[in-house]
Amino acid sequence: MKKAIVIGSSSGIGKELAKVLSQNGYAVGLTGRRVELLTDLQSELPTESFVKAIDVTQTAEAMQRLQELIREMNGVELITINAGVGFINTEFEWEKEQTTIETNVAGFSAMANVAFKHFLEQSSGHLVGISSIAALRGSGATPAYNASKAFVSNYLEGLRQKASKLKLPITVTDIQPGLVDTAMAQGEGLFWVAPPEKAARQIFDMIRSRRKRAYVTKRWRLIAWLLKAMPDRIYNRM
Ligand SMILES: NC(=O)c1ccc[n+]([C@@H]2O[C@H](COP(=O)([O-])OP(=O)(O)OC[C@H]3O[C@@H](n4cnc5c(N)ncnc54)[C@H](OP(=O)(O)O)[C@@H]3O)[C@@H](O)[C@H]2O)c1
Repeated sequence: MKKAIVIGSSSGIGKELAKVLSQNGYAVGLTGRRVELLTDLQSELPTESFVKAIDVTQTAEAMQRLQELIREMNGVELITINAGVGFINTEFEWEKEQTTIETNVAGFSAMANVAFKHFLEQSSGHLVGISSIAALRGSGATPAYNASKAFVSNYLEGLRQKASKLKLPITVTDIQPGLVDTAMAQGEGLFWVAPPEKAARQIFDMIRSRRKRAYVTKRWRLIAWLLKAMPDRIYNRM
């Protein structure tokens, strides 16, 4: 049986991705801090699943727990790092910046370290990171969030290069969602907000086709193009 872990699967995109994976025959490892939500999800899944409480900000313990989960599942071929937080921080509060960095940068890197080393040991695997279209430019309202997602995308590119130089069949996929209707999508003037089920289905398609990077939903490719092309003098006025 195919086996996958979704780090951060208690709600939103991660929960829906775990469902899609299970519906497609994967045994799934579910992680997050809200274990009761994970056990609820477990009871809905058609395939075998495993639950592990992991707080990615407690990096040393989180790494140990992910290693345990991989052992309990007897190895996996797909690990998606989806856990993340995001806050609108117009008051530039340090606590919000700090939590974002601890989760999306330190937590992400710790999980990527364990996942990639597992794939090195078995000489194959597929690492997927859920970054964001926010990775493309800085933001005055969410400075740490956008910077943290730029870190995620850049880090994944580094791991892809590492795998390529080692000539190992390890795939690294950078998913950059636009807006998805979850607890995290806050603020006014939101547009093209996709249901998490649709986002998860598209992410699964990208995983299946072993894409290096992809925007989700697909139409966000247009916004990405605009963001990259926009001169600073216009961007800074938005
Ligand atoms: N929604 C959007 O519009 C959007 C757009 C672009 C990118 N994204 C990215 O998509 C990913 C999923 O977000 P979502 O929109 O689905 O929001 P969500 O429903 O809030 O899901 C966030 C997930 O991350 C987990 N998580 C957060 N902090 C954690 C921690 N310290 N340790 C372990 N797990 C933690 C949560 O689990 P617990 O709380 O149970 O720990 C939850 O499963 C995030 O990386 C986010 O940046 C979202």
